[in-house]
Amino acid sequence: MTDADPQVIFTPSGRRGRVPSGTTVLDAARSLGVDIDSVCGGRGICGRCAVAPAFGDFAKHGISSAPSHLSEPGEVETTYRWEVGLAPERRLACVARLVGDAVVDVPPESQVHRQVVRKDLDARPFELDPVVRLHTVDVVPPDLATPTGDLGRLFDALRTEWRLDDLRADLLVIRALQPALTKGDYRVTVAVRGGRDIIAVWPGYHDRAFGVAIDVGSTTIAGHLANLVDGTILASAGVMNPQIRFGEDLMSRVSYVMMHEGGDRELTDAVRKALDGLLATLANRAGIKRAEVLELTLVGNPIMHHLVLGIDPTPLGSAPFALATDEAVEVPVSELGLHAHPGARAYFLPCIAGHVGADTAGVILAEEPHLADRLTLVVDVGTNAEIVLGDRRRLLAASSPTGPAFEGAQISAGQRAAPGAIERVRIDPASLEPRFRVIGVDAWSDAPDFAEQVADAGTGVTGICGSGIIEVVAELYLAGVVTADGVIDGALAARSPRVIADGRTFSYVLHDPGPGSGASAGRQAAGAPSDALGLRILVTQGDVRAIQLAKAALYAGVRLLMDKLAVDTVDDVRLAGAFGSQIDPLHAMILGLVPDCELDHVRAAGNAAGTGALIALLSGEARREIEAVVRRVEKVETAVEPRFQEHFVEALAIPHRSAPNPNLERVVTLPARPATADRGADPRAERHRRRAAAAAANSAGGDE
Ligand code: FES
Repeated sequence: MTDADPQVIFTPSGRRGRVPSGTTVLDAARSLGVDIDSVCGGRGICGRCAVAPAFGDFAKHGISSAPSHLSEPGEVETTYRWEVGLAPERRLACVARLVGDAVVDVPPESQVHRQVVRKDLDARPFELDPVVRLHTVDVVPPDLATPTGDLGRLFDALRTEWRLDDLRADLLVIRALQPALTKGDYRVTVAVRGGRDIIAVWPGYHDRAFGVAIDVGSTTIAGHLANLVDGTILASAGVMNPQIRFGEDLMSRVSYVMMHEGGDRELTDAVRKALDGLLATLANRAGIKRAEVLELTLVGNPIMHHLVLGIDPTPLGSAPFALATDEAVEVPVSELGLHAHPGARAYFLPCIAGHVGADTAGVILAEEPHLADRLTLVVDVGTNAEIVLGDRRRLLAASSPTGPAFEGAQISAGQRAAPGAIERVRIDPASLEPRFRVIGVDAWSDAPDFAEQVADAGTGVTGICGSGIIEVVAELYLAGVVTADGVIDGALAARSPRVIADGRTFSYVLHDPGPGSGASAGRQAAGAPSDALGLRILVTQGDVRAIQLAKAALYAGVRLLMDKLAVDTVDDVRLAGAFGSQIDPLHAMILGLVPDCELDHVRAAGNAAGTGALIALLSGEARREIEAVVRRVEKVETAVEPRFQEHFVEALAIPHRSAPNPNLERVVTLPARPATADRGADPRAERHRRRAAAAAANSAGGDE
């Protein structure tokens, strides 16, 4: 190369160099390691290579760039501009040739590894690097003199045009190749997975490739359908997991498998059927054919992981909770009985331990605690809380048997988060009067038009969902109705009609729609009619106890991990999962769900597991990253840790028996903590504490 050769500078990368005069901008970019997209391989069809040359004197770079330094647009580019459209300042890099010095900007949409920012999913920006890529090639037609097979000539074309070596193709592709070559006049587009496996072939130019990321929860299954070419999400949808009919919680489903021959097959069939339905819904919403889906990523807890893959989950039901595999699993989608492109593959993120699944791997990928300098706690709250604690030096994971209370089960008026459920609660400490908000209605319950809005929404007030139960117990504690030991103080019955005797204990009337409203929520027969304002809703002593047990299990799990790291505080807290995302951080801390932390550093993480699945769908690099991270995660099995019981009992108190709360106390005034010596003074509190501690021993026994 001489000084007479054109010099080109690409922005924003800043890469520069000289190339022989007449080199296409695309070839110049490739020779300088600049990332420019292309599907059609420079045939002027795809338009992915569009760049924006910049003209003028660039003193900073020491060159002058002018329109005449690029070749005139030829027929291919002019036709593309006319037929498809191209912004006036853009040129097709695959056909524009450098004949003088030039500065060329590569816009984000023309970069292969562009950053994807998804604010709607609360996902961190990540680099688009899909595992499946499309390449259009012209294959040399067969000829009697050189009788090679069509597949060999396809490999040759891909090697020459796309520098792809060591390619493989299975029978499905070989069968489809000859008709595609004939129909496309020896021009075909192939989908290459992982730079190695040809999984699909189409005649001519083809630019449609889609993927689906799925979070298989034990209650709901949620999915996103994305365009693998540009990373856009075209549809999102969710369905209930039909396995619920075999048992609400995971362990009851494992018990079903243990007690019914062929039970594993039934559960596998049920969840796969739901996955197939979800694929159909997503494709419908996105306006694509299912056969255009080329890649699936899945996350789920270990039992869902095993059942979707058709692996017997019973070893996960008892110690030592052995996983069939803790590696990522890849299978043809057709082997899962799902309808997508016949060559489509499914990638299941790796499980971490017997109780810590691929969903937690997804959470790690989305929240990146392994890259953080600050000590980060990520909690995915569900029937079984999955907990990750650490930073870029060490990362620990455990699961804790919280039980279904946070999801509304075991709560007298509990229900899933759905229209009509109380989700926000405030209680006036002076009058002990509550106000609340229900899902589906904007107004708070003390607004004059609340009843009207509830009637308009047609929701009624039907129960309390997880976030509501957290708030009401925390607010009752702040108002002094519930003691630090979790006892509803019956002495307050004299002060407020809201506190009522309920058998041998007391309850708090959170919602009373008035005379004629009939029975209370949770005690009314299912399907019984209710008036516009719904049911009478109580918070019973049993409800408070169920929440205490759940939150103590969660805290004890977190505390165990903190012990392992020899720390007393954490820097950041992320509350993930459908329920975690709804929890108010302040109320979570008042209740003692998570350790004391600066409130600004506690935030919801959305469906982080699903976001992790999406990142893995759109980034091969992310798959390699999570596989490496999972290998170094230190697993902690709460069921066999002797200190779990100890932490559990301490954590039964609200917010905690002994842990200091400096950050929380800066924001709210907590009721005085009972002195240790006085703990036994109230016989009811002591009885309650003993019962809860006994329950601790049972619930911490490894049940999920
Ligand atoms: Fe397809 Fe340029 S690479 S139009």
